[in-house]
Amino acid sequence: MKKYIDHLVPINNVCNQACNFCSAEYRMKTNKSIPLKTIFKQILEKDNYIQISGWEPLLSKDLYNILYFIKKQKSRCFIEFQTNWVFLLQNSNLDKLQKFWINLYNINYPCHIEKINDEIVRWKWSFHPREKSMREIIKRWLNLRINIIVNTINFKYLPSMVDYINKNFSWLERIQFSFTKAMWAANKNDEVVPKYEDTEEYFIDALAKCKKYNIIADVDHIPICFLWKYFKNHVDYSKLKRWEKWVFLVEKHYVKRCNLCNKKNLCTGFRKDYLEIYN
Ligand SMILES: C[S@@+](CC[C@H](N)C(=O)[O-])C[C@H]1O[C@@H](n2cnc3c(N)ncnc32)[C@H](O)[C@@H]1O
Ligand code: SF4
Repeated sequence: MKKYIDHLVPINNVCNQACNFCSAEYRMKTNKSIPLKTIFKQILEKDNYIQISGWEPLLSKDLYNILYFIKKQKSRCFIEFQTNWVFLLQNSNLDKLQKFWINLYNINYPCHIEKINDEIVRWKWSFHPREKSMREIIKRWLNLRINIIVNTINFKYLPSMVDYINKNFSWLERIQFSFTKAMWAANKNDEVVPKYEDTEEYFIDALAKCKKYNIIADVDHIPICFLWKYFKNHVDYSKLKRWEKWVFLVEKHYVKRCNLCNKKNLCTGFRKDYLEIYN
């Protein structure tokens, strides 16, 4: 079994948004700013894949020092940059990021409808700057992944979100649908975490549209039996094929219905934190 390496490096603990599902606090467990020394130490402990995250990394005054450090210490490192994108076009941030050869820009994308977006992120100035940033990234041919955190407020809009993305960001190759992990803001929170079965038909419809539009769709944090014929889109399916079985041990768990399932060996089961809400 392979050893699990966490790629995540949170670099700050401030954010402009207050997403209803946010799991960031859970990771940091402190209100104090993170010393640069700690961040550098974490970077050195990682392998050659680093996810720069935080709360909102574009609000970190140390961001470019940190990227410089990574490039100096690990010149071949794959850098994924996780952001809500609101400040990407301010202070020449995108130009500066491009100089560091960011390999993947991961955008936290709540919804294509402004009202729903605002309800989720609870900060009403994010929608237009985010859309503008996405257009700019695509114009520059940079590697972009739209990450949709599927929660109680947006799940019914998944199919129309795919239509919108296809129409407006036609170059986009990949969308990730991440079912909300029931952590920190979403911890034991049924107002944020929907029931798997309530989201099922919207997932299927959205995945069918991705297939039709030739968009690669990855799904995470929902058991594969809720994805019907699209179960191969689940990221655990490919992890299992690569024998990365650590996911079983860390976050997920089989339940009674798994014993009747003919895909059990292709699946990692239900998240334990989900079962604390719906068991
Ligand atoms: C915590 S955020 C921090 C970086 C940045 N502020 C952002 O929103 O992308 C890092 C990633 O975690 C995702 N995320 C946050 N809360 C989550 C949850 N409860 N379940 C699944 N993913 C979550 C976000 O969508 C984002 O892609
Ligand atoms: S998910 Fe990201 S943008 Fe949303 S509140 Fe958390 S840190 Fe901020």
